[in-house]
Formats: sequence, structure tokens, C-alpha cells
Amino acid sequence: MYILGIDTSCDDTSIAILEIKKEGARRRRDATLPNFRFGPSGGGSGIVKLEILSNVVSSQVKLHAKYGGVYPFLAKREHQRNLPLVLKKALTKAKNPKIDLIGVTIGPGLEPCLWQGVNFAIELAKKLKKPVIPVNHIEAHILANFLLSSNFHDREFLKNFVRAFPAICLVVSGGHTQLILMKEIGKYKLIGETRDDAAGECFDKVARILGLGYPGGPIISKLAQKLTKREVFSLCLPRPMIYQKNYDFSFSGLKTAVLYDFRKRKPKIRKSREYIREMCREAQQAIIDVLIRKTIKATKDYKAKAIILGGGVAANEELRKQFAKECSKCHFEHLVPPKNLCTDNAAMVGITAFYHKDKATFNLEKIEANANLKI
Ligand code: KG4
Ligand code: ZN
Repeated sequence: MYILGIDTSCDDTSIAILEIKKEGARRRRDATLPNFRFGPSGGGSGIVKLEILSNVVSSQVKLHAKYGGVYPFLAKREHQRNLPLVLKKALTKAKNPKIDLIGVTIGPGLEPCLWQGVNFAIELAKKLKKPVIPVNHIEAHILANFLLSSNFHDREFLKNFVRAFPAICLVVSGGHTQLILMKEIGKYKLIGETRDDAAGECFDKVARILGLGYPGGPIISKLAQKLTKREVFSLCLPRPMIYQKNYDFSFSGLKTAVLYDFRKRKPKIRKSREYIREMCREAQQAIIDVLIRKTIKATKDYKAKAIILGGGVAANEELRKQFAKECSKCHFEHLVPPKNLCTDNAAMVGITAFYHKDKATFNLEKIEANANLKI
């Protein structure tokens, strides 16, 4: 089976093609879910092999960089222009297979951008006479973790991963910061989210204050790593809501604290390498501290067994390191996608479509974008 995934939720135009084939009965031992040590109690049957034949991402970063953020209507126009080109590239790279199913992100995201992907999927479905599966972008960030392996089990089989679930998922991106209780694939409960800015948005805004460009996350991470000398400014940013009993977040105050500190510095200091690196390190650590503490608390409170990360911020090297350390200390299983599958891509849409193939529909008029779609 060949699944084509489409994502235009924000500023990346992405199309991927996945090949999924049944390989017949084998034992669980052969079905590797790397880093995921837990497995079903017995042997498995009907192992499914997954291969990402292509995963083309056309980034609009350069276009939005000069504004320090994403402009939805500019992004929409770019998606419209890029979609046919990205499709051609994805098909060519996958050696033009016969597509069976089309998965498309319908939300959450930027409404004008989502509609571009949805309308494109509908037109393609009509042309190919194939059904469409509407995909939730947040679930796709979670299920990106299951692209890790070239072998994985089908949905029924995954239901048997009783020892793995419940898991706590932390989805951290430019638009979202959510803690989700995952009972099994397809069964989620949102337990907390940001009350204002998302973690990625905070990285982006701090970078803008410091004059570092867009997107902020990768630049801040790089500059923070370069801080080798002892700290001279003794920066101490707040860790918003860290000790509160809920699972919500708030990052807008953190950005304001960076702005206040920046404003009180002399112009020469503001531009100095030392100050910028130290601020990057402190802002990054403040975000990481809150994310880790709240996620670990949720995992303990819900008696979950695993932590699953996803979203662009999960590509942050320091966050990955510190999460791994905390999880091993607390004996929690821990899953995080490879960096290129943390940020927006359509392979994650393809795998989500696969898990929801029962939702495939020819009722194309009913498929609508929903900017505020909930998990
Ligand atoms: O998941 P994503 O690609 O798009 C959304 O769904 O929003 O996430 C983009 C966000 C941006 O805010 C970007 O600054 C952040 O992810 N990001 C990072 C890193 N790479 C991307 N944040 C921290 N460290 C990184 N290495
Ligand atoms: Zn995303």
C-alpha cells in the first residue's frame, strides 16, 4: 500500500510517500521499535514494514525571516505555488508508485495554509479516484515516533502494547505546547497546554529580541552551546508556572523578562557575543526546566510508563539530552523522533493516516480545514 501525506499547516510545504507492506507472521523480536523496550506479552503476527520513499519539505524560512515570524497570507500563497512542485519531487523520488490513500493535515494550524493542503488533497483524490484521510497535526507529531523503525505492527497489534501505555506526550512546536495522556494510538486526552505563547514561539520571540533571525530555536540552541566561558552576567530568568499543580504552561512572561533585561543593558553589551550567548543559554534552560518538570510530574501523577516527545522544539539538542537523563533517573521509557522528523513534515501525516485508515472517505466535500482542531 502506498500512502501520500500532505502537510501545509504552517510555513513548510511537505509531501511524503510511504510504502507499507505486510510481511507475514514473525516473532516480536524482529519487529524493532528502537528505544522502546517494552513490547507485547507474546509473539506477533502480521508484521508491517514501513518505508519512507520520499519526504519532501519545502521551507519558507527565508521568506518569513525578514518579518521574524510567519505571515499566514504570504505562507498561503507560497503553499499554492509550491504544492505542485513538491508533489512532483515526492513522486519522482518515490519512483512514481500507484497511490492508494491520501492523508492530509486538516488542523490545527494556520487556517489559510491548511485550506491550501486540503483543497490540493481533494483535487488529487478526484484525479486519482482515491479516498482521503483527514489528519490531526498534533497526533501526527506524536506518531512521528513510530516512523523511527522500518518495522512496526499494525494498529490492532499495537493495541496489545498494554505495557507501554498510558504514555504522556509532550508536543512542543511553534504553535503548540501540550501535555497529552495517550491511552493507545488514537485515544488521547489533553491534560494541559500553554495559556499564551507556545515554547517554540518563545524561542522565536527571544531570538527576535536579540536580533538573531527566524526560526529562533536552532539559532538559540547553537549559540547556547558556544557559551564556554564562565557566566559574567548572572542572568536569572523566571521558570513560569513551574511549581503550580496543573499541567499548563505560560511562556509570554519569559519573553518579557528577556526584553526587560535586554533594554536595561548598554547598547555595547546588548550586541556583545558573551551577553547574547549567556541569554540564549538561560532562556533555553528556563524553557527546558519547565517542560521537563511538568512532564515528569504528569507522568508520575497519571502513573504513566512512558514519555513521548514531538514537535519542532523536540529537535533541541539540550532538551533531548536532559529529557533522556531525567527519564532514565525515573525509569520511564522515552521516545523522541530523529531531529528531521520533529519539525513539520508529511511522513508523520502519512503514518497517522495509516493508523486511521478506517476514516478514509470519498465524501470529499465534507473534508474541511479546522484551525482549532483538538486532539
Ligand atoms: O513543529 P514545527 O516545525 O512547526 C509547528 O507546528 O509549529 O515547530 C517549529 C518550531 C519553531 O518555533 C522553531 O523555533 C522550533 O520549532 N525549533 C526549535 C529547534 N528547531 C526548531 N526550538 C528549539 N531548538 C531547536 N533545535
Ligand atoms: Zn508542527
